[in-house]
Amino acid sequence: MTSDTQFPVPVTARPSGPLSGAARVPGDKSISHRALIFGGVAVGTTTVSGLLEGEDVLRTAAAMRQFGANVERGENGVWRITGCGVGALREPDEVLDMGNSGTAARLLMGLVASAPFTTFFMGDASLHKRPMGRVRVPLEEMGAKIISRSGGRFPLAITGQSLIPIDYELPVASAQVKSAILLAALDTPGITRVREGKRTRDHTENMLRHFGAEITVTENADGGRSIAYRGQQELTAADIIVPGDPSSAAFLAVAATILPGSDVTLSNIGLNPLRDGLFITLREMGANIEILNLREQAGERVGDLRIRASTLHGIEVPPERAPSMIDEYPVLFIAAAFAKGRTTMRGLHELRVKESDRLSAMAAGLKACGVAFEELEDGLIIDADGTPPKGGGVIETHLDHRIAMSFLILGLATQTPVTIDDGRVMETSFPGFVEMINALGATVTRGRGA
Ligand code: S3P
Repeated sequence: MTSDTQFPVPVTARPSGPLSGAARVPGDKSISHRALIFGGVAVGTTTVSGLLEGEDVLRTAAAMRQFGANVERGENGVWRITGCGVGALREPDEVLDMGNSGTAARLLMGLVASAPFTTFFMGDASLHKRPMGRVRVPLEEMGAKIISRSGGRFPLAITGQSLIPIDYELPVASAQVKSAILLAALDTPGITRVREGKRTRDHTENMLRHFGAEITVTENADGGRSIAYRGQQELTAADIIVPGDPSSAAFLAVAATILPGSDVTLSNIGLNPLRDGLFITLREMGANIEILNLREQAGERVGDLRIRASTLHGIEVPPERAPSMIDEYPVLFIAAAFAKGRTTMRGLHELRVKESDRLSAMAAGLKACGVAFEELEDGLIIDADGTPPKGGGVIETHLDHRIAMSFLILGLATQTPVTIDDGRVMETSFPGFVEMINALGATVTRGRGA
């Protein structure tokens, strides 16, 4: 499945037998973006193995080259990045096209906020709808000059300035916003502080430490965190091994859980405690997921997952768990459609501003496939009786990779096939998804199903 065609590529998942065997999912998307960005501003040469070579991350690689970093892929798949040093970015010659990637867009907005030139950003139709005001507000408070479409949306231009540090409380639980501020702080004198009421993924903090910077993280009694960074520290190149993406593993884990008789092992999966909410939730629903070889690798927790099929039951998912599994709700909705009983998932406002409005996109697809649910402003309640849903829908994916893959997983276990309108977007985060799941025993093919 490649995206080198101008036209939509429908893809169909057919009811399949058990999945079995071992697989290695592509590298973590969040860590891959950050490896390129921090490698690109560190002094020296960073090697990165296991980098996700999906379209989103390649946008960040291209941008870092535009800023003057030397970014090369070796024949062995190991990437070498020679950084230009904090405060020494070069003015890009081109408009930076961030494609479908909110992470590339928001993190790089932070990075250029202190650079003494103007950077122009654009993206695809999905990215142009996404809220950027959440990044614009703190960056402007630090002194950056930003011109954008209404609501802070893309395309936009940032003229970097000598910034002043801020003490900023995140109004939404967003690791992208937190990271944008920390990236703006890299070349800002004094101490920049970000406070988060709910903990979000901490790959930026981990990577700053990995590159030799000092960063102070204080845990608050109410469950939040305060992160303080003194700007203008030098970052030193440090090699990185990117673990498999738990958000990609999620699709295979749900498939192996709902397809009777399955037994699948996924090796080298990132299990950062701020990312593992889906696996905890599936286990609470009755899934059989074993974690093996838990270890630490380049500042991140990593392990292997063995998933065996099991019957699921509905639960109430604690809303406060949402940040640790925010990208996994679409496929959790699929798991819930096979569970016996009611699964309630709330606290999910943020799903409305992802690559698509994931609550309404999932609701439309679930309806087309005969799943009973109630859509709430901030979540979904799914009622199921433990028998496979009807299936048969043709699903609109709205340029959203996670909607695409979620419905292909559904179609492996429904009574009739499920077709998605366009599979190309899966390349953003999971190149080789179709080939990998088929190698485990699934039947997913190009074209519309009969
Ligand atoms: C990401 C943070 C999350 C997540 C996204 C990747 C990151 O977004 O949904 O896929 O790498 O920081 P938010 O910061 O908007 O929650």
